Amino acid sequence: MAGRSGRPFLTPCGDVRRFGASGAPGAERGELSGPDPEGTPRRPRGDTVTVPHHAHRTIPHAPGLIPVLGHAPALLRDPLGFIGALGRVGGVVRVRLGPRTVCVVTDPALVHTLLVGLAHDCPPQGVRDTLRAAFTAERVASCVPVVEEVTRERVGRWRHGHVIDVAREMNHLALEIVTRALFGARLRADSALAFHRALPDLVRGQLVRSLYPHRALARLPLPVNRGYDAALAVLDRVVDQTLARGGQSNGDGGGDGDGERTLLALLRATPDPATGSPLDEAAVRSEAITMFGAGTEPVATTLTWLFHELLRHPRVCARLMAELDGLPRAAPDGSGDGLTLDALGRLPYTARVLREVTRLHAPHAFLLRTAARDVDLGPYRVPAGTGLLYSLTAPHRDPAHHRDPLRFDPDRWLADRPGGAAAGPHAFLPFGVGEHRCVGETFAWAELAVVAATVLRAWQPLPVAGSHAREVVSGTVQAQGLSMALAARTPGGPAATEAAEATP
Ligand code: HEM
Repeated sequence: MAGRSGRPFLTPCGDVRRFGASGAPGAERGELSGPDPEGTPRRPRGDTVTVPHHAHRTIPHAPGLIPVLGHAPALLRDPLGFIGALGRVGGVVRVRLGPRTVCVVTDPALVHTLLVGLAHDCPPQGVRDTLRAAFTAERVASCVPVVEEVTRERVGRWRHGHVIDVAREMNHLALEIVTRALFGARLRADSALAFHRALPDLVRGQLVRSLYPHRALARLPLPVNRGYDAALAVLDRVVDQTLARGGQSNGDGGGDGDGERTLLALLRATPDPATGSPLDEAAVRSEAITMFGAGTEPVATTLTWLFHELLRHPRVCARLMAELDGLPRAAPDGSGDGLTLDALGRLPYTARVLREVTRLHAPHAFLLRTAARDVDLGPYRVPAGTGLLYSLTAPHRDPAHHRDPLRFDPDRWLADRPGGAAAGPHAFLPFGVGEHRCVGETFAWAELAVVAATVLRAWQPLPVAGSHAREVVSGTVQAQGLSMALAARTPGGPAATEAAEATP
């Protein structure tokens, strides 16, 4: 689960952070309601009770245990369904994955306790903390023109009437954005292709290593290990190329003087928390590897789900286009007014649509922590060394927090709607929460809005008969198999109106 550098390199799914918080303030208040009359643990529904330390409740086992394999087949068959159903068993549930037992935290309030209440016992993240602080609105604002330029170039290659593979296009776009907007470098086309081909092996390898963190297992000549090692070598090459070419400029790698604003320049200027001296090149490289994985895959996945929902909801698509058409528009050669962070911040409907996509399709299906010491989670005591698995998808699809949770409804986030905006802090956390939340959140929101605006002001997405997105859990919750036809449009032109009228 860690790159060669010893740092996690991809989505944080495999980032086994260690918690130890027995008796910590966050652990003192159990937030589960007591057992119901039948003795079955109930989910919290607003009224909470304080559970004293001595009243630890036994952590229940998930049903359906298969000898030797445990619950692994059920988890692999339908990961989201399996984890979602565990909420009915308890707030914390034991699951056997072959030889390993992990505890799944199903209760959103306990997930919050785990990430916020217990986080103070986590080691400081050093460089990562510096980076989080560095993603200021000003820095993100300076990246917006590059994100727009990269997106305009890619969608400029699309042709009227063509059909695109949405996940593939979004993967390429997200990688190019990270490379150019954050590192000020351009990747060679063959390297970008190699990166995309390697990604599934990286994700698979990381998933297996995070669930079974045994050195001996990682050394076995299994296909998953061979694929992972080969994929790591590709990632190494891509990052080397980026570091060699990067930092020259903010956009074209040609040295236009903006180099000091890139993430790469920032990393090179960041002091090592241990020594106070600038990070050495190995540490810079290690952080760059993490950024590549963490900043590419979730964005590509979210954008693919966005188009999936827009194709299914033409009225939403038309309303979104109408709002985006009001944005300043650069000339085709890039001159004139482009998108700005300020202008993007004044798009209430766009914000609701993006929020709703990340609620229904939070990219990180699972995240894993490890208890460094005994940990009290509500009424449950989790022994030291236990893996604590939690899902960001589960609270997002929990009917206790979101009415009709599987319905895509951006207006649920209107302030006056029940649920939605009022759902509470436990119920919406696509970027995680607490000290270890996503480093790139501000950048990601801006990036999603810029891509949506740049695509939808140029193209009307149209469905392709027989094509739909399949939800495949592989590190992130991916949308595979979605095709989309393209019709060129002019701002506010007939395509948007027709789409609205075509809505059943
Ligand atoms: C829709 C887009 C994104 C989503 C939903 C997302 C979500 C997340 C989540 C849930 C975490 C884990 C938090 C935790 O462990 O508690 C995370 C970590 C992280 N994210 Fe994001 N993220 C997105 C985009 C980005 C972007 C664009 C960047 C970089 C610019 C980025 C950089 C990171 C990094 C560096 C970490 C820490 C990874 C680690 O420690 O292994 N993310 N993100």
